[in-house]
Amino acid sequence: MNAKPELRYLFQPRGVAVVGASSNSDKIGYKIVDNIVSGGYQGRIYPINPKGGELLSLPVFPSLQDVNGLIDLAVIVVPARGVVEAVQACAAKNVKFITIISSGFAEIGKADLETQIANYARSQGMRVLGPNVFGIYSSRASLNATFGPKRVKKGRVAIVTQSGALGIAMMGRSVVESVGLSAMVSVGNKADLDEGELIEYLVNDEETRLVLLYVEGMPHGERFVETVRKATKTKPVLVIKSGRSSHGAAAVASHTGSLAGSDAVFDAVMRQCGVIRAENLRDAFGWCKFLDYSKPALGPNTVIITNGGGIGVLATDACEKYGVYLYEDLAVLRASFSKVTPAFGSVKNPVDLTGEATPSTYQEALNAGLDNDNIHAVIGLFCQTAVFDGNALEAMIADAYQKYTEKGKPIVFTLLGGELVESSILALSNRGIPIFSEVYEAISCLGVAFAQSRHMVEPHYRIEEAQIDAATISQITRAALEQKRFFLLPQEARAIMDAAHIGLPVSRVARTIDEAVQYAEEIGFPVVMKVVSRDIVHKSDAGGVALDLDDAAEVMDAYQAIMSSCREHAPHAVVEGVEIGQMVLKGTEIIVGARRDPSFGPVVMCGLGGVYVEVLKEVAFGVYPLSRREAMSMIKQTKAYQILLGARGEERKDIEAVIETLLVVGAIVKQCKDISDIEINPIMVYESGAGVKAIDVRILLSKSQETA
Ligand code: COA
Repeated sequence: MNAKPELRYLFQPRGVAVVGASSNSDKIGYKIVDNIVSGGYQGRIYPINPKGGELLSLPVFPSLQDVNGLIDLAVIVVPARGVVEAVQACAAKNVKFITIISSGFAEIGKADLETQIANYARSQGMRVLGPNVFGIYSSRASLNATFGPKRVKKGRVAIVTQSGALGIAMMGRSVVESVGLSAMVSVGNKADLDEGELIEYLVNDEETRLVLLYVEGMPHGERFVETVRKATKTKPVLVIKSGRSSHGAAAVASHTGSLAGSDAVFDAVMRQCGVIRAENLRDAFGWCKFLDYSKPALGPNTVIITNGGGIGVLATDACEKYGVYLYEDLAVLRASFSKVTPAFGSVKNPVDLTGEATPSTYQEALNAGLDNDNIHAVIGLFCQTAVFDGNALEAMIADAYQKYTEKGKPIVFTLLGGELVESSILALSNRGIPIFSEVYEAISCLGVAFAQSRHMVEPHYRIEEAQIDAATISQITRAALEQKRFFLLPQEARAIMDAAHIGLPVSRVARTIDEAVQYAEEIGFPVVMKVVSRDIVHKSDAGGVALDLDDAAEVMDAYQAIMSSCREHAPHAVVEGVEIGQMVLKGTEIIVGARRDPSFGPVVMCGLGGVYVEVLKEVAFGVYPLSRREAMSMIKQTKAYQILLGARGEERKDIEAVIETLLVVGAIVKQCKDISDIEINPIMVYESGAGVKAIDVRILLSKSQETA
């Protein structure tokens, strides 16, 4: 296999060929040549068409072989059936990168064909972008090799998009929104190049200040995580992903599975990697623009300056939502703002200048915020009033923005009012000033910038891989798979917990009513009883569970009740016996789980446990392996954290033992490929140092199907 070409040849090719260039101006093969020419690309352009002739004043070559010059990038724009031949011609010409515009591959079920093409290309030292893409734009080379808009605003935002149509729309919108692009890459079916490799290049590209991704699915998520985790420490990476719904998750036999809808996992993984997720294009563009133009704040202290009380309250709510810290030192605030605030206003944050504020008081307040070194960022809110000369607005805001920027203090504005205000917003926004007609939009920009700054200064914490006895675990799972069984019986799950040193209550399986009584007496009352059957996965639903049994008589009654109820619920189930277990001391019930995600590999989960886990949805996910700190931040994302800390005056619980268990279940799923899901629900958490006890453990094996 030949060495991979460097990605800079994709972004700065010395020569570009368009295979399928057409003189028919309705065809994509024409539009691409036209865009390359109009974009001012300085390298050589080689239109290829068997008819030869001339196109847009360029000589057309009948074939690639006829070109007498270097071709770093070939854009293939011939119907799918002709692509293999075109790629072979590229190999013969030592092309480095191929962009396959043509559709008709994986998206219509022909994944094999594109894989073959990508493999062949790589074997010839070439890389493939696509197929099914609209091309690539690179500001460095002034190259617009797309059939998107002709006009592109050069800048520092690199967009990598899976959706072609949306990508083209984003290209157009970026001009309208005044977001300058350093690159626009359409990755389409990702037969070869995907987001991960492109991000790696783009974060090292001096022209790029931030990367925006639009993704639909992420087949090589593990690889992506590795790259993006590092990338976000250098530059902001934003993502928009379609498909928030969690369809497909319902058919999974574990809570972890059904809660781990693809989107919940995607969201968690992005957060863990420091990727900023936007819900929509509007937010994404707003944030890109803000991150592009502003410098990171020197600290978190933010002050709201407003001439309206209501909008100030709205802004306070928005600050809470987006994690923007409102500075509270009243003495400092008073010293700065009392001279510009009327007696009936407020110097408490939000600083309320009241509806009486004139351009000069507003200006003075902005200056006071600028001059106070304890204040690191300002949110300027303005409601149009009769006493404020709206014509003064534009100049005042532009002036404040410039001064704040020079001083390295982020500032955002929200303006509410009529036509004059709207036209000011438009004019200022076109100058790159972060100004909005919605408080939440403005403050979300600041929130995102603060989150990015925090992420960048946070040190790299050691990623932990827990030690487990994988050989013993694999023996157990193999034995089950040999029986064509895709879930483990309680005693097998117990053996795995033992091998992983996760504490369990004492238990034994009784096969007769007499054994049940004998074991209960040996273990000590009170006991719990659970049916043991490979055919009954949801034991409670089948009436297969009895708790808090105090003596032999209760054990006998429960044994009979379990047997008859299970017989009724699942008449064909083979019941192997009843597990008699130690009744566990009450602790804090949480859920800990791990599963193999189709995109991201091993993923761990924890949160509030118990039977309502799917209703409460108080769980957090994280990609494994992870640092202890990341495991802790998962716990903090859920309400379980407050309880574990000791709500209602209780002692703090053994959070460290929960973290340890999370790392261990993650390691089991990572190292034991037979296992697809582990779920411990509940796991009882005791006071600090007293550890945890796994009460109910469910383990599913790969290729598992719902059985009950
Ligand atoms: N080398 C050079 N030129 C070739 C060629 C080859 N091996 N094979 C064909 N051509 C020429 C054709 O003669 C034609 O030129 P002409 O207009 O002078 O006759 C030109 O290439 C284009 O071929 P044509 O058969 O007319 O195809 P088309 O332009 O109608 O469609 C695609 C080609 C690639 C655009 C089309 O097949 C396709 O896939 N469209 C979807 C693209 C898309 O949506 N991509 C994803 C975007 S996100």
